[in-house]
Amino acid sequence: MIEVVKLGQNIGAEIKGVDLSKPMSNEVFQEIFKAFFENEVVVFRDQNLQPSDQVSFARRFGDLEKHVRKESLLKGMEEIFIISNMIGDDGKPVGAQDVGRFWHSDLSYKKIPSMLSALYSIVIPVDANGITKGDTQYSSATHAYVTLPDELKLKLSELKAVHSYKYYRTINREAQSIDAQNGGKKVMEPPLTEAMLMATPDVNPPLVRTHPVTKKKCLFINEGHTSHVEGMSAEESKELLSSLYGHMAKPEFKYVHKWKKGDLLMWDNCALQHKATFDYELPLQRLMHRTTVRGSEPY
Ligand code: SIN
Repeated sequence: MIEVVKLGQNIGAEIKGVDLSKPMSNEVFQEIFKAFFENEVVVFRDQNLQPSDQVSFARRFGDLEKHVRKESLLKGMEEIFIISNMIGDDGKPVGAQDVGRFWHSDLSYKKIPSMLSALYSIVIPVDANGITKGDTQYSSATHAYVTLPDELKLKLSELKAVHSYKYYRTINREAQSIDAQNGGKKVMEPPLTEAMLMATPDVNPPLVRTHPVTKKKCLFINEGHTSHVEGMSAEESKELLSSLYGHMAKPEFKYVHKWKKGDLLMWDNCALQHKATFDYELPLQRLMHRTTVRGSEPY
């Protein structure tokens, strides 16, 4: 039997009573499955996981993705995408250094986007005052949708939004160079290669998506990957997206995760969007392992 303790007003829960490094019965897995999709983002605290434990658990939800940034995949277990600001003994970044500064949903720029992501914390930045840095923020796209006026829901139901990896990489590099000019972090992602572009052509899913498991409707747009709304002028599209992003960012739809070492945090990439917080720098270190489960084509 698991215990589920709610964390946020509408989303977020801690699942207690599970050691993810141990074999798990189907019965317990079904309880976790239900609690996960009900709460949209869940944490398992105090875990001690090998990469193979994380991969085995995530695989129970479906097939795993391998990220296009091959240089940041764990050697020997490429289903693990390393997110870190650390530099290895060879002078190279240990993982992807600058992931998720904009609100986004993992891999929403793919024809088959991600169903869920699971992020395991290995090293957490804690400052000299004992304050943990690098929170991850979540905002529910299902709760945001439900509270929209009916007239707007009708209008949105006919629209498609373009999601683009190229767009994301462009705005991310712009933000990184602004940081560097302002004397902040000097992190630059490796350049976008032809192979990455070929693997990620732009896609145009419905702006309102039906969740494949819960059948709830969600706003499937995010500031990191959505370049524009199809068939609208640039101005009209920008205005609509900005007003929807403003609505989605309301505090009642949010949960902010304060990390502890040994957390396995899992979130639903259809039901919500998320964003990393870059409020730490070396010598404060952060090291996380992410696994991503493939979803299904949005409808
Ligand atoms: C992500 O965007 O997948 C990672 C979030 C984080 O590092 O806080």
